[in-house]
Amino acid sequence: MTPSAPESPAARIVLGVAGGIAAYKSVDVLRRLRDHGYYVSPVLTPDATRFVGAVTFSALASEPARVSLYGDATTPIPHTYLGQNADLIVVAPATAHLIARYAAGLADDLLTATLLASRAPVLLCPAMHTEMWEQPSVQENLATLRRRGVMILGPATGVLAGGDVGAGRMVEPAEICDTVTAFLTSDTTRLLSGRRVLITAGGTREAIDPVRVITNRSSGKQGYALAEVAARLGASVTLVTAASRPIALDVVRDVNVVAVESAADMAHEVFQRENDHDVIIMAAAVADFTVRAQPHKIKKDQGPPSIVLEPTVDILATLGSRRRPGTVLVGFAAETEDVVGRAREKRRRKQCDLMVVNDVSAANVGFDHETNEVTLIDRDETITTISLRSKEAISYEILASVSSLLLRGDS
Ligand code: CTP
Repeated sequence: MTPSAPESPAARIVLGVAGGIAAYKSVDVLRRLRDHGYYVSPVLTPDATRFVGAVTFSALASEPARVSLYGDATTPIPHTYLGQNADLIVVAPATAHLIARYAAGLADDLLTATLLASRAPVLLCPAMHTEMWEQPSVQENLATLRRRGVMILGPATGVLAGGDVGAGRMVEPAEICDTVTAFLTSDTTRLLSGRRVLITAGGTREAIDPVRVITNRSSGKQGYALAEVAARLGASVTLVTAASRPIALDVVRDVNVVAVESAADMAHEVFQRENDHDVIIMAAAVADFTVRAQPHKIKKDQGPPSIVLEPTVDILATLGSRRRPGTVLVGFAAETEDVVGRAREKRRRKQCDLMVVNDVSAANVGFDHETNEVTLIDRDETITTISLRSKEAISYEILASVSSLLLRGDS
């Protein structure tokens, strides 16, 4: 016997809560998931209950929160009941200890046993202090889990327990909920199956001399999120990246990563692969001008140098001018004024099927932020605005549009 479920729940989610201070935010995650109509079964580790009581979760959840591996009269084997019935398992917060136990395949409490007893997709939202997050052991455990297909969201950078600031903060409940909704409503677990998708990311770097470069503020996060989500949706993905800093995003296995530096390098790598891909997404901030580079380091005692700039090849426009039928080309535009008007003009000029534009003057949008808000303009000039959410959730929306353009073929 198992507890009765509502007649037609949107989806059944096991919300795992491990023992970290971010557990207090899991109550908000639970409330939001319930607001979306999901059937949510909370599972707390014994340590989680030291931060927030199971009663609090039970009061808000679809069924009582569980802690013990050993069931009761109604559910004698809770880990199989929970694991087999889940459409998704979300662990928020996922502590370093929980991550290690899951990676090692331990089943020493109800949460880890449920993870093991399930074939459902798993989303982990790590939360810990920066020193812990940066430990090779933690990173290796996460790499192992990613290789096995586990999704990892965050952590964000911000204020941590005790007032420290750094990487390791659990992503906000709204973002977790957005990601869950995007994942579950895409109905698309294999939306891009069999498609070959090439994505560019990051800001290119143009050498002034052997030690100095000109670059821009792009972090590459949106491009990496697109690569990760496209792979999850079944595409075979090539990521041509100019990101200069390591990105703690979850490039899942099967993403072919090609590192480049300059606009010319990127053009070379993209053009070489152009005919092998059904979709090309130019999320990179490609330099419009390169530098006539000096072969030797410019010395200060020679006075201020004059730097001569030369235009780069416009990769997107070149691809647009020779796009093959049945393929989809996506451009990005970062604008600060007349955002939609300029993007519409840019889409026509560069002949792409979809232009993704963001207003980089708005708060929490675009360069180096964890979140984004974009407007999509497709080849019918249909305009769709996607409100502020995680770059991962934005990626689902962009790739859903790409998929419908692919299905429509050329019009
Ligand atoms: N792009 C490109 N090659 C370049 C410059 C840009 O492929 N040399 C691509 C970008 O990857 C992006 C799109 O073109 O997808 C728009 O880039 P943006 O810099 O906004 O456009 P520009 O034509 O450079 O116009 P602006 O004057 O606004 O910078």
